[in-house]
Amino acid sequence: MYKNITEMESIRGNQSYEAFPMNGGEGQYSYAQNSNYQRKGADITKHIAKEAILENLDLETALQHSSNVFRIADLGCSVGPNTFFTVQNIIDSVNLKFQSQGHGLDSSLEFQVFFNDHAGNDFNTLLKSLPEDKQYYAAAVAGSFHGRLFPESSIHVFKSSYALQWLSRVPKDVVDKNSPANNKGRIYFTNEDKKVAEAYSAQFERDMESFLNSRALELVPGGIMTLIILCVPPNSGNGFEDIANIMGNVLVEMADKGLISNELVDSFNVPMYVPTSKEVKVLIEKNGNFKVERSELLFRLIDKKQEPDSQKICMQMRAAWEGLFKEHFEQEIVDDIFLQYENKLAESNLLSVSDPTYKRLGGLFVIKVNVKYFE
Ligand SMILES: C[S@@+](CC[C@H](N)C(=O)[O-])C[C@H]1O[C@@H](n2cnc3c(N)ncnc32)[C@H](O)[C@@H]1O
Repeated sequence: MYKNITEMESIRGNQSYEAFPMNGGEGQYSYAQNSNYQRKGADITKHIAKEAILENLDLETALQHSSNVFRIADLGCSVGPNTFFTVQNIIDSVNLKFQSQGHGLDSSLEFQVFFNDHAGNDFNTLLKSLPEDKQYYAAAVAGSFHGRLFPESSIHVFKSSYALQWLSRVPKDVVDKNSPANNKGRIYFTNEDKKVAEAYSAQFERDMESFLNSRALELVPGGIMTLIILCVPPNSGNGFEDIANIMGNVLVEMADKGLISNELVDSFNVPMYVPTSKEVKVLIEKNGNFKVERSELLFRLIDKKQEPDSQKICMQMRAAWEGLFKEHFEQEIVDDIFLQYENKLAESNLLSVSDPTYKRLGGLFVIKVNVKYFE
């Protein structure tokens, strides 16, 4: 059963959130220019979001206390353009459902869209690039989705894509020199590092719990949530670990050459966790506030016949990670780090289409969830 506001407040009070927004602006390293992969994800899941609205949104109940105002929130929206595309798909689907329920053309809904991300997100770029013909009132909501963002029972549709893999923090034990889970010389875990892997998965569990509890309070009765979560199939190695650990090797080599300090390398870990699809389902069931109506695991979005491009992958990772690196290392060395990373990606077998790891990478888990309990 979901927690009340007082309990939620105490959850929020105990948790320290760290923010790692994507690169802003529209330059060559920006998220806006390097989020094609996520855009493909939005494209291929478009019909699922539409079906979720047509089949699972209880429009009548949802609108009971809000006249004809319909509120949508995109959690972890970054700077666009993907968020505009997915939001428009939701609006078109809700309108379709509204009209199909016998409302005449003279009766229409008013939409309000909340674009949420960390306060450090480039909301200026986002708001400046809102589509000119948008049919909604737009608002930016800064703050972590691991805590409360909206008043109780105020949002009709929540949507989040490619954001929940970001943890609220690097797991404490991973950077504790005295812990058996200390992750010296690596920036993520490998399958052999059981203790480190457990610390990451426990942090993901805590974060999912606070995310789901917050959303359960904020969603109106009859509302729905659709999530696209980067994940890997059950019982497979964690594909993300290879991509991350190549970067770990770059850092260790640079420390060996005296270009960065060993201490900085040892204390650096990526606050991300790519779960298996099973883990996500189990956590949602355990939380108990939501019911998974549909889940799908979608594999690689990139054409399998096309050789992957190390430069492109490096740019994608840079758009997501550069902020993290600039915070931890000297700014001047960051260009060099990503240059070495691109070289190492190019050398690695990982990016060969025939490599099984490559095929496992970037699994997509789409779930649409309904609020289960309401008094
Ligand atoms: C890879 S981007 C995805 C952007 C967009 N949803 C898309 O599909 O293209 C992940 C976004 O989630 C945001 N994010 C990560 N953790 C967050 C949190 N706890 N609260 C709010 N936003 C968060 C990041 O700042 C980043 O902008």
